[in-house]
Amino acid sequence: MSKSLLSLTLVALTMVGMSSALIVLKNGQCPSVSGQARLDMARYLGVWYEYQRFPAVFEAGQDCTSATLSQDGGRISVTNKGTLRLNLFGMKMALREMSVTLSATVPDPSKPSELAVSFRRVDMGGNRPNYIIQDTDYTNYAVVFSCLQLPGFNIQNAWILTRVPGQVPTNLATLENNLATAGVDVSKFKVINQSQCPERS
Ligand SMILES: *[C@@H]1O[C@H](CO)[C@@H](O)[C@H](O)[C@H]1NC(C)=O
Repeated sequence: MSKSLLSLTLVALTMVGMSSALIVLKNGQCPSVSGQARLDMARYLGVWYEYQRFPAVFEAGQDCTSATLSQDGGRISVTNKGTLRLNLFGMKMALREMSVTLSATVPDPSKPSELAVSFRRVDMGGNRPNYIIQDTDYTNYAVVFSCLQLPGFNIQNAWILTRVPGQVPTNLATLENNLATAGVDVSKFKVINQSQCPERS
């Protein structure tokens, strides 16, 4: 086992210890979710709001979450924003605005909807796609899946995104069903609070 893989495993095990509510961890192999066959990146760019997502350490406690994709030449960047709110004795307090910009590539041009996004903290190394756009109609919804394979287990993330904050996709059941068919446990989805958010720019 390489040193980086070992440290990644240790990080993952620590996270498991922290809380199972913060992470979706499954035994065995990542489900094989494939990207939409064609993707018009120009139409996919712009702001996407999280309608629902899996619990993830790097987004813990965040509401009002969005991802903004832009493209500058061959470079795609993904800016994730969110508001960290603390629930204190039933009162929610906005603590601070979070923002992180990541860069993405399309490692295999024949799979245009399978991106490799480099998350800064835990770099998955190599050029393996970790941001799979399973399905999108560009104007209403997008379904994104990510899975980190570790020896013997895997950590999953999934998002259902919309162009309008808080809007339920009309075909939500179909979208979830497609993920479930690919082996994803859609019971892990949590709807995101997109109301009373700070001014969106
Ligand atoms: C969403 O968050 C706001 C602000 O904290 C809160 O007032 C509202 O009740 C929340 N909505 C839901 C459905 O939890």
